[in-house]
Amino acid sequence: MTGRPILEIKNLVKQFHDEMAAEQGNILDGVDFTMYSGEFVCILGPSGCGKSTFLRCIGGFESYEGTILVNGQKVERPGTDRIMVFQEFGQLLPWKSVEKNVQYPLKVRGLRDKAKLQEISDTYLEKVDMLAYKKFYPHQLSGGMKQRTAIARALALSPEIVLMDEPFASLDAMSRNNLQSELYKIHQRENVSVIFITHNIQEAICLGTRILVMSKDGKIKMDIRNPLVKPVTPASPNYGEMWDKLHSALYEMTEE
Ligand SMILES: Nc1ncnc2c1ncn2[C@@H]1O[C@H](COP(=O)(O)OP(=O)(O)OP(=O)(O)O)[C@@H](O)[C@H]1O
Ligand SMILES: [Mg+2]
Repeated sequence: MTGRPILEIKNLVKQFHDEMAAEQGNILDGVDFTMYSGEFVCILGPSGCGKSTFLRCIGGFESYEGTILVNGQKVERPGTDRIMVFQEFGQLLPWKSVEKNVQYPLKVRGLRDKAKLQEISDTYLEKVDMLAYKKFYPHQLSGGMKQRTAIARALALSPEIVLMDEPFASLDAMSRNNLQSELYKIHQRENVSVIFITHNIQEAICLGTRILVMSKDGKIKMDIRNPLVKPVTPASPNYGEMWDKLHSALYEMTEE
């Protein structure tokens, strides 16, 4: 535990109300979870277990039963204290340049000072190594560059929590490795709190200070601190043990 509790979730229950709902039951079934400021929480779990739904509830995009508090305030709608970054490369506005994409949500929030907008977008684009491409448009960027821009846009809003739903899943292995280490460095420097969904055990071990495993019945089945010292590589002490532990938790569930 690194800081104060910034996210407190008690008995979170989510069910959808469409024609499949009766068959599916509760998607999230009484989830309790407290996150502390500065944590990097990675969430693993079988496909369809409710990871994205969990993140969307925290983001304020879904109705829910139970309690979700961010800094003591009940989550009822989206807010700039919780910014989401998705897997899809199409998150940027295609008609705006890289820097205008970063500036746009700040403008929506009421910042009109052009020099200040420029300063903020330059600062955050530099952090993700995109400053040289600030005049480019999304169609001129690689997938990794689009994701870097989406991360800069999220960080520029100084959110309390960045919510990331498999942000690197569509990238090639090399870009993914690079972005993983850059994201971890940014997390350390900015002391931002991150919840990061992944299907990749290695990614969870490399990035997470804490790792959750969700089960198909919509519960948190495992919640462990990640003691491995960063930067983590497969040669790090205890890497194999941690990988085995997470793999068997996931494998048991997919066998169920
Ligand atoms: N808008 C929706 N309406 C109805 N059911 C939904 C909706 N969104 C998700 N679900 C259902 O909720 C369950 C959990 O979906 P969710 O997308 O949260 O899973 P996930 O763990 O993120 O899966 P994946 O790893 O494949 O991304 C699924 O059974 C899905 O069918
Ligand atoms: Mg998902």
